[in-house]
Amino acid sequence: MADLSTTVGGVKLSCAIYNASGPKSGHASDLVNVGASRAGAVLSKSATLKKQTGNPFPRLKKVGLGGVLCDGSINSEGLPNSGIEYYVGAEVLDAVGATGKPYIVSLSGLTVADNVEMLGQVAAAAQSGKIAAVELNLACPNIPGKPTVALDFEQMADVVGQVLGHKGFEASGLPLGLKLAPYFDGPHYDRAAAIINRHAERIAYVVTMNTIGNCLVVDTATESALISPKGGFGGIGGGFCKPVALANVAQLRSRLHPSIDVVGVGGVRTGEDAFQLILAGATAVQMATQHWLEGAGAFDRVAAELAAIMASKGYSSIADFKGKLKPYDRANKPLEPPDALSPTGPPKAAPGWALYALAALALLPAVLAVALR
Ligand code: DHB
Repeated sequence: MADLSTTVGGVKLSCAIYNASGPKSGHASDLVNVGASRAGAVLSKSATLKKQTGNPFPRLKKVGLGGVLCDGSINSEGLPNSGIEYYVGAEVLDAVGATGKPYIVSLSGLTVADNVEMLGQVAAAAQSGKIAAVELNLACPNIPGKPTVALDFEQMADVVGQVLGHKGFEASGLPLGLKLAPYFDGPHYDRAAAIINRHAERIAYVVTMNTIGNCLVVDTATESALISPKGGFGGIGGGFCKPVALANVAQLRSRLHPSIDVVGVGGVRTGEDAFQLILAGATAVQMATQHWLEGAGAFDRVAAELAAIMASKGYSSIADFKGKLKPYDRANKPLEPPDALSPTGPPKAAPGWALYALAALALLPAVLAVALR
């Protein structure tokens, strides 16, 4: 049997797949369902200082062809959540604790001061021994009027510095992870990685990536945006995101200090998706859209599929293939006929003799007509 266990920022996980902070992570019952599945950890919905109801409905929709394995989703929920007191309160800590899985608290303060205050509350609650780590969300794109912190590098550096300055949180010893936005260009990876590497001894891991923010999905029938908040602009999740997530995992893995783990999230629907993200450098993967559509059974299915792929390749542990993505190598592939859709250069000219033969054939009736007149 393939061993799916891993570690994230020093926290031991029995399985390298768990939930993303997002749908089905806001209530104790959701979190218990995750903990009762094969998921290796339980992550809360991003908490704000005070509970809030979020943006107007409809604010979360499936996008694409439909079916269980879905192309994706668009969301602009606006951080509906029960407030930090709930996520570090006895009801949640006891319920998740009973599942035996490590519990990670996600924070997404509306201000830096809110994040700092919440860290104090998490540190106090961690004395119970029932909190394993904190994931600080720097990438929620859905709060009207608030830019995405991880896309504004000055702000990101400031927030990270202030959060790490919290003495009570430091004393708690809890590992800190940062949830990042997707990046699309070399200099942006460089700048994000430089900010994180400056604090390599305190930042245990990064989670990449949040949704592709501020996208627009149009409903042709109604000629309107698919969701209501923020003029219809929302974060794209699910299958559409996988190539972006793979790139973000690989690009950050190659830039970050080796002590900083990378957790991959974006477009994981199958064990093969999880396998690919781990190959690109992820130490574990999270699922959001697929968890929302399929429920916590998705963790059991994807874990079984990942184990089957590992077995078929002769891998017995995550370490056997983590970060071992190879560059394209012609020697790995049999020579294929050129793809009909790929540009293969200008069409080849017909050989000269063929052209003469064709011309002779075309002229034959005229020649015969003259000869027989
Ligand atoms: C929400 C969306 C996010 O992408 C996120 O990181 C946090 C919250 C939301 O709209 O609720």
